[in-house]
Amino acid sequence: MCGIAGYIGTRNAVDVVFDQLKRLEYRGYDSAGVAFVQADRIGILKRAGKLTQLGGLIEQEKPEANLAIAHSRWATHGGPTDFNAHPHYDQQAKIALIHNGIIENYLELKEELVRAGHTFQSETDTEVAAHIIGREYVEGVSLEDAVRKAVQKMRGAFGFVVISHLDPEKLVCARNASPLVVGLGEGENMVASDIPALLPYTRRVAILENDMVATVTRGEIKVIGLDGRKLELSPFEVDWDIAAAEKGGYDHFMLKEIHEQPAVVRSALAGRIEGHGVALQGLFSDHVWQEIDRVVIIACGTAFHAGLMGKTLFERVLQLPTDVYFSSEFRYGEPVVSPRSLAVFISQSGETADSLAALRLCKSRRIRTLGIVNVVGSSIARECDRTIMTQAGPEISVASTKAYTAQCIVLLLLALHIAQVKETPGVRVGNMVQDLRNFTGYVQASLSLESEMREVAEMFQDAKLVFFLGRNADAHVSLEAALKLKEVAYVPTQECPAGEMKHGPLALIEPGVLAVFGATDSDVREKTVSNMKEVQARGGYVLALTTEDDSSLDSVADRVVKVPKSGSPYLNALVSIVPLQLLAYYVAKARGCEIDQPRNLAKSVTVE
Ligand code: F6R
Repeated sequence: MCGIAGYIGTRNAVDVVFDQLKRLEYRGYDSAGVAFVQADRIGILKRAGKLTQLGGLIEQEKPEANLAIAHSRWATHGGPTDFNAHPHYDQQAKIALIHNGIIENYLELKEELVRAGHTFQSETDTEVAAHIIGREYVEGVSLEDAVRKAVQKMRGAFGFVVISHLDPEKLVCARNASPLVVGLGEGENMVASDIPALLPYTRRVAILENDMVATVTRGEIKVIGLDGRKLELSPFEVDWDIAAAEKGGYDHFMLKEIHEQPAVVRSALAGRIEGHGVALQGLFSDHVWQEIDRVVIIACGTAFHAGLMGKTLFERVLQLPTDVYFSSEFRYGEPVVSPRSLAVFISQSGETADSLAALRLCKSRRIRTLGIVNVVGSSIARECDRTIMTQAGPEISVASTKAYTAQCIVLLLLALHIAQVKETPGVRVGNMVQDLRNFTGYVQASLSLESEMREVAEMFQDAKLVFFLGRNADAHVSLEAALKLKEVAYVPTQECPAGEMKHGPLALIEPGVLAVFGATDSDVREKTVSNMKEVQARGGYVLALTTEDDSSLDSVADRVVKVPKSGSPYLNALVSIVPLQLLAYYVAKARGCEIDQPRNLAKSVTVE
C-alpha cells in the first residue's frame, strides 16, 4: 500500500528517490519522508500531507547524498502525522528504515523494547521494526545480518529498506508478502515497491521473493535467504509504458483492485486472528458488549450492501437484532435508537457526507458508535467512539471492489469478537476462524474464473436488462453485483431476493434478459431452482453461481459458474462477488465504457 524508493549511485540520491515517490503517487498516501546518508549521520526529512509539503522541505534544506531512501505512507498504525511518517530511526539513530506492510506482533515486541529502556517517537509498528534491527546491529555484525536476524522475530507482512551511516555504501532490503522490486543500472542500483518508480532510470528489474534479503550497492545486488545462503535473482526487461505500469500492468484500476483482493483479505486479518480466536484490539470493554441489545448499521452504496451482510451475521450468528439504514434515510428519518443500541458506520472514504451527518446525529443522542473505515485519519474514522480499519489500501477506481470484501471480512471478525466476549452458545468460533484463514486461498482461486466471466460478458454485452437474484447472503451479494454492472457498464439491472421476483419484477422477463442467480447457499438452493425455471419459462437466460461441490444446477441453468467452497455460507456467498465484479468489468470493457471514472459518479460523495 505504501510507496518505497531507494537509490545508490552517482546522482543526487535525494532527487532520484523524490522523483520515484512522485511516480508512486497513484497509490494514494497521506505523509511522506526521505532519509539520506551524509558523512557521519543519517538525515531525515518528513511531513504529513502531500508530496509538495516534503518537496518544500527538500527545496529549503537542499540535501545532497549518493545514498537515500524515501517513503509515501498510507496510514495503518497511527494517524497521518509528521511523527508517524517514515523513515524511522532506531534507538541510537544508527539506522533509518522504511516499511510497507503490517508487523502483527509489534505490540509484543514494543513492550519488550520498552522494558529494555527504548523510547519511541511514533505510534507505528515500523518504528518498532527499526529498533529491533538497530538492536541486532552491534559492532562486528553486518547490516544484512542484522536485518536477517531481526526479521525472524517479526510476524506479518513487510517490505523493508534500511540504511546506515556506519555502512554508507549499501542499502539492505528484505521482504515477506509486501512487494519489493530492485532495478539494475550502470554504476547505480535501486529498489522500489513497484516497477513504475524505476522505469525512468532502468528497465532491467528483478522481483525480490519472500524471505530474501538483498544488499544493494552501486556495482551489484547480492541476495541471501533468511538462513544466510546465497540466492540468485532473475532479472528481466520491462517493456510496458509508464502509464500502464502505474496500474501494475492492468488496463484499469478496477481490474487491479479486483486482483488485489487475496492480499486485501490477508491484510484485513493481519494481527486479528490468534490461534482459534479473534484478537480485535481497541474495541469497547466486555461489559459494554453485554449491554448492547441492538445494532443499527448505517452506510451508503456498496458499504450499505456490506452492512446487509453484517445484518445476516449479527442476527444468524449472534441473535442480535440488527437494522441497516441508508445514511441519507437515517439522518432525515425518525430512527428508534436507545442508549443500548450500537451504531455501526461503514465507509471506504470515511468522508461520505450523509454518513458523517448520521454519525453526528447518533453522537448528539449519546449512542455508542463504531466505524468500519478504510481511510485512516478520515472524519468518520476519527469521530466514531471506536474504529476498525479495513486495511484494504487506497482504492482508486470509483467503483468499489476490494473495500467491499474487506468490509465484509471485518464484519465477520466483529461478529466473532462479540461471540467470544458474550460466549454465545452454539457459535463455533474456532471453525469460523479456520474458514477465515483459508479464505485468502478461495479468493485467489475465484480469480481463475476471469476468462470464463469475460466470455459471458462478451455474450451479454448488449443485454437490455440483467436480473440479479439470490436468497439470504446470496441476495445481498446480488445487490452489490447489480450496482457494479450498472455503474461501470451502464446496463439496466433489476435486483431482488429470488423469492420476491414473482411479486412484480417477473413481468420484466422476456427473451434477451439475463438472470444471474447466486445459489451458493445449499439450504435454500432447491427453492432458487424453482425461480430459475420461472425465468426460463419466459425466455430468460439463467447464469447460476454455485459452489464447486454442487452439480445439481448443471442440468438446470443455461450456464453454471462454480466458486470455491468454504465451510461457511457467508463466505461462500462473499467469494462469489469476485466473478461478478469481473462480469461487470468485462461488460463495461466490451461496451467501451470509462471504467475507472464512470459518468456522473465521484469516488467520495462529500455533498448531500
Ligand atoms: C459503489 C461505490 C459507492 C460507495 C458509496 C459510499 O461502487 O463506490 O456506492 O460505496 O458512495 O462511499 P463510502 O464507502 O466512501 O462511504
